[in-house]
Amino acid sequence: MTQPLRLGIAGLGTVGVGVVRIVQNHADMLEKRSGRRIEIVAVSARSKTKNRDVDLSPYDWEDDPVDLAKRDDIDVFVELMGGDEGPAKAATEAAIAAGKDVVSANKALLAMHGQALAEAAEIAGRSIKYEAAVAGGIPVIKALNEGLAANDITRVMGVMNGSCNYILTRMEDAGLSYEAVFDEANQLGYLEADPELDVGGIDAGHKLALLASIAFGTQVDFGAVTLEGIGSVTIEDIRQAADMGYKIKLLGVAQMTGRGLEQRMSPCLVPDTSPLGQLQGGTNMIVLEGDSVGQIVLRGAGAGEGPTASAVMGDVMDIARGFRMPVFGQPAKDLRKARAAHSAVPAPYYLRLQLQDKPGALAKIARALGESGISIDRMRQYEHQDAAAPVLIVTHKTTKTALDEALDEIANTGVATGSPVAIRIENL
Ligand code: NAP
Ligand code: HSE
Repeated sequence: MTQPLRLGIAGLGTVGVGVVRIVQNHADMLEKRSGRRIEIVAVSARSKTKNRDVDLSPYDWEDDPVDLAKRDDIDVFVELMGGDEGPAKAATEAAIAAGKDVVSANKALLAMHGQALAEAAEIAGRSIKYEAAVAGGIPVIKALNEGLAANDITRVMGVMNGSCNYILTRMEDAGLSYEAVFDEANQLGYLEADPELDVGGIDAGHKLALLASIAFGTQVDFGAVTLEGIGSVTIEDIRQAADMGYKIKLLGVAQMTGRGLEQRMSPCLVPDTSPLGQLQGGTNMIVLEGDSVGQIVLRGAGAGEGPTASAVMGDVMDIARGFRMPVFGQPAKDLRKARAAHSAVPAPYYLRLQLQDKPGALAKIARALGESGISIDRMRQYEHQDAAAPVLIVTHKTTKTALDEALDEIANTGVATGSPVAIRIENL
């Protein structure tokens, strides 16, 4: 008879409890589909006495996740604690050294230490699987590694942080400021314990770095992701972008260019009729482009107990079936170090300016743009009561370098009050 696959689970929070529930509620189905009984042997968390609304009495308890990772009677160490250092890193390393496979939802750990962990796991003949780490319930890592394996991936992009998309769409729907919706999201428990991980684009940047590694066969390099959070997005930008036919999204884009690997996570405008433009609330969406398949769009819950535990268990079932593959889709020792592209490919930009309402002001702005080689596509000036006129400009494609030069020049004209806002437009 086939031996059961024995799990040790470290972390019994939102995701850990979800995994326990799936194992308990779907034991027979998991066995039929994976060919092996899947059993939890032992668990670990900080508090042994906390009520978690799930029966943990059948399982051994370990105070220290490292001890759990090394137990002789587990086959798979399931790391659901979080954090890029500390117990998550120590226990994952201990599990690999003890010859266990690892399933993790921890994007921070893998984005920071993925290459070293992958090399160690592959030398030991073990796998680290982390579908849950990117876009929660959406099987995007499986899509890249399996269904799209025969494609030269040309671009990966998407909305990978549900909390930021919730904030941006709620600002628009309710006409509220960033600060008001941030407080609301925090009170509802939608934000990480350190909210900067969400609103600063760091969490989403970790996910993008992992996808870029798989897509382009490069060593994961979170340090090379250009990061900009959503903290400076105003309700005026959201309203006026909508007026020009766009939505603002915290958008991740990774693509291999002639100048190297471009990885950026920043607020961008996308056409409001595009799939990304239509994405509401905490939902995630990943757009993958391959030379043979063209463009595909994956959409679903990027977080939460059920969706994230679903992804963890998909990985566990692959291991139960005996399906192991290199951590980043090809052997870690063969992954190359990518040269980082220091400037993004040219794109149109949205500019919002406050201009003194006097003769020649607009002409000075047009001249500043023209002298930097930037051509205006569309322009709109709004009715206004005070001395400064709100002006929106959509440019034709330009480089960030030319744009920065023009913004410096605009500051020198003396007709713009306050700092102009510039947001990149991604046409999909
Ligand atoms: P969580 O609710 O905060 O739970 C964390 C768990 O880890 C808790 O049970 C905690 O113990 C335990 N823990 C923390 N430090 C520990 C330590 N030093 N020793 C032993 N146990 C420790 O977190 P979560 O939301 O489930 O997230 C877990 C992982 O999944 C993270 O890597 C996260 O980024 C990732 N993830 C989460 C989601 C989501 O929707 N929540 C989605 C995708 C990925 P106590 O309960 O005793 O405090
Ligand atoms: N804070 C993350 C989000 C959780 O909002 O998407 C899932 O990684």
